[in-house]
Amino acid sequence: MRLSSFVSVASAAALASLVVADTDAEKPSDVVSVTQDTFESTVNPEPLILVEFYAPWCGHCKALAPHYEEAATTLKESDIKLAKVDCVEDAELCQAHGVQGYPTLKVFRNGEPTDYTGPRKADGIVSYMTKQSLPAVSQVTVVNLTDFQNADKIVAIAYLASEMDAPTAEFTATAEKHRDSYLFGLSTDPEAIAAAGVTPPAIVVYRSFDEHKTEYPYPISSATVKDVEDWMQELSIPVLGEVNGETYAIYATSSKPMAYLFVDPIDESSQGYIESLKPVASQYRGKVNFVWIDATKFGDHAKALNLIEPKWPSFVVQDLEKQLKYPYDQDKAIEPEAISAMVADYIDGKLLPKLKSQPIPETQDESVFTLVGQQFEEVVFDDSKDVFIEFYATWCGHCKRLKPIWDSLGDHFASMKDQIIIAKLEGQENDLPASVPFRIGGFPTLKFKPAGSREFTDYDGDRALESLIAFVEEHAKNDLKPKVVTETPVDADQAVFETPKDSHDEL
Ligand SMILES: *[C@@H]1O[C@H](CO)[C@@H](O)[C@H](O)[C@H]1NC(C)=O
Repeated sequence: MRLSSFVSVASAAALASLVVADTDAEKPSDVVSVTQDTFESTVNPEPLILVEFYAPWCGHCKALAPHYEEAATTLKESDIKLAKVDCVEDAELCQAHGVQGYPTLKVFRNGEPTDYTGPRKADGIVSYMTKQSLPAVSQVTVVNLTDFQNADKIVAIAYLASEMDAPTAEFTATAEKHRDSYLFGLSTDPEAIAAAGVTPPAIVVYRSFDEHKTEYPYPISSATVKDVEDWMQELSIPVLGEVNGETYAIYATSSKPMAYLFVDPIDESSQGYIESLKPVASQYRGKVNFVWIDATKFGDHAKALNLIEPKWPSFVVQDLEKQLKYPYDQDKAIEPEAISAMVADYIDGKLLPKLKSQPIPETQDESVFTLVGQQFEEVVFDDSKDVFIEFYATWCGHCKRLKPIWDSLGDHFASMKDQIIIAKLEGQENDLPASVPFRIGGFPTLKFKPAGSREFTDYDGDRALESLIAFVEEHAKNDLKPKVVTETPVDADQAVFETPKDSHDEL
């Protein structure tokens, strides 16, 4: 697409007009292509430049390309450059910058790199890079007050009689910590303060959604970084916003229970349902984060939340910390009163979670006990027995390698089944009841529960049969007679745990 540099701009334009088929060729790119030879001379002098390391074959890079181009054009006005490096052409350059996947984006300030942690959409890139270009706290006067208040989704402005006043230091520290997420300004201009309609010291957050203006409501002179950031984080969550790949992080960080309204956005009635639940969402604000979600895109997520029917709208509350799911009856209509009553019951602890479980096996003919969710309490909390459980996932490779060893462990203790149970549980198909004090973070996970106890001990040792047996013998409360190990010991090379396929994979 780039014509060689000796073709003048005029003749390039003339050439382009002849090549009608390739309309892209008419529009010169605002993204600077850099190579091994030009990298230093291009990147190092820039106070701020974003560099994309890409490969021509990479799908995510192709998806990013139009956004990257658009952002480059917009940011040209602010003198912020966007560059790209083709890692197939310049493999060594990419290697030197520690590039391990495509695309990798890095922000360089006078040649010093930091990871780009912003969004991959044009407006997101523009917003992120604009914030990077400003000091952590911008000076605001009456001249640019209105522009600044509307310059981003969330803008915080401290209005102070003097920069010597509290909470300047705390506000500035908050800004330095969160400059990637929000825009921060400070004004000591009496005219700006009058225009803002506040009495200094004050901090006001301006949002592009929900209530536009919110003043810091707590004692301000003693506000700490934590106070301000908690308050801003709360405000960054809309009353009932859309959750998707771009916004999921704010909900995950908040870690409050989530109430999802699954809708089909194409359906005309969807907006009405969203609006009808906003008052309910306001009512429970701070306790439960309400969201709506595109059910056609995130159908798997609906299933993971134990919504059985692909029927929209549907509603479900999820306790993120305990990983418990409370679906609203899919046969009932979504009505604000009923939803409000359900959420009230949830908050009061009156609602029972819906637990996913495989059916109870009719027979247990292996030496390893096949445990399922609905039998968990009955089997595991049987005080007469020591229990050792492997939580596995069908897709997990390390679990497959552990299987023969775990089976051998079952065989080893097969003659003592009234004292010890060696069990396995498919962690993706079975939810753990609320009474269980832990959640599974990776597969395989091995947990031991001694007889007469409700305490679980993690097994962190190697995956050799003899190590597992030794661990059981050490921790068991029942008198398990030591036996001679007859099996061949298996190599203990698999200390690596796999991360589970997060049910939010696509978010
Ligand atoms: C606002 O205007 C003042 C001059 O009145 C200037 O010093 C300041 O940098 C401007 N702030 C922004 C964010 O543009």
